[in-house]
Amino acid sequence: MSLRYRSALLAALLALVALTSGCSSDDDDALVIYNAQNQNLMKALTKAFTDKTGIAVKIRGGGDSELSNQLVQEGAKSPADVFTTENSTAMAQVDRAGLFAPLSPAALEGVPAQYVSGRKTWVGVAARSTVLVYNPSKLPAAELPASMLDLSQPAWKGRFGYAPTGADFQAIASSVFALEGDAAGEVFVQGLKDNGRTYANNIAILKAVNAGEVPAGIIYHYYWFQDRANAGADSRNAELHYFGGQDAGAYLSVAGAGVLSSSKRSEQAQQFVAFLTSREGQEVLAASNDLQYAINNGVASNPALKPIAELEAPEVPFDRLDGPKVLAAFRKVGIL
Ligand SMILES: [Fe+2]
Repeated sequence: MSLRYRSALLAALLALVALTSGCSSDDDDALVIYNAQNQNLMKALTKAFTDKTGIAVKIRGGGDSELSNQLVQEGAKSPADVFTTENSTAMAQVDRAGLFAPLSPAALEGVPAQYVSGRKTWVGVAARSTVLVYNPSKLPAAELPASMLDLSQPAWKGRFGYAPTGADFQAIASSVFALEGDAAGEVFVQGLKDNGRTYANNIAILKAVNAGEVPAGIIYHYYWFQDRANAGADSRNAELHYFGGQDAGAYLSVAGAGVLSSSKRSEQAQQFVAFLTSREGQEVLAASNDLQYAINNGVASNPALKPIAELEAPEVPFDRLDGPKVLAAFRKVGIL
């Protein structure tokens, strides 16, 4: 073999290696994920997926409604292949706009029916439980509300915090409209305005409750568990109250994933969503320090959490969640 021929062969081999290993310098072939899920968690999941399949993934981060609105605006021109969220409302919005492709059977394998959208266009990946975080020295356990809707009563004036600008709380409020109807939803929102104290986000609420600045607050469970798993600096004076009993305050918000019908890499996109719901993907989630619930393929969540079967969460059909309606109600009373 001549030297020239050998070096040409070597160059061709190197090019092939670069192609098949998916790490060529231009990553135009990478799957694009519009991701509103926790960035560290999504990085762990995409790394495990790329290690397994060799398919490169690019993450574009943003908030739930920021990215769902962007997808609706971009329509078929969107560069996104996959959309992943923290809450169900943003998934329902994109689904309603008809932008999701039907999911492959592999993505739905081993997933309980209540975590799959009616049209099988998106699927649950993780879940987060609504809780009332409270400071027992400011709010004795005997005085805890039986229902989250009780917070609209005058006795709760100035006694609880919530974060109206966050997608998490907006999802909780949309579950009230979906479960109890619009009239009850509006009473709840007026109660927030009259009685609640607004905070920038869930961590700010946790800190305020822990410091005794406000007796209680509505958050998702994992903020408290994450803090307790660290030194507990912002949670040691705070406990969690689970409403249970299918109350709106026991709402379990399902974080989802779906493939955009405009994706030009739909096969790899379907593979990615199937990985998220697979035993392997769910085990990455359960082993992370993120502390959301694993919900698929029989994978147990982190044992520190209250078991998901004991949450007594209400069943909220995804297609009844209406994020824009909730934002309009918040604006009407002036909490946004
Ligand atoms: Fe969150």
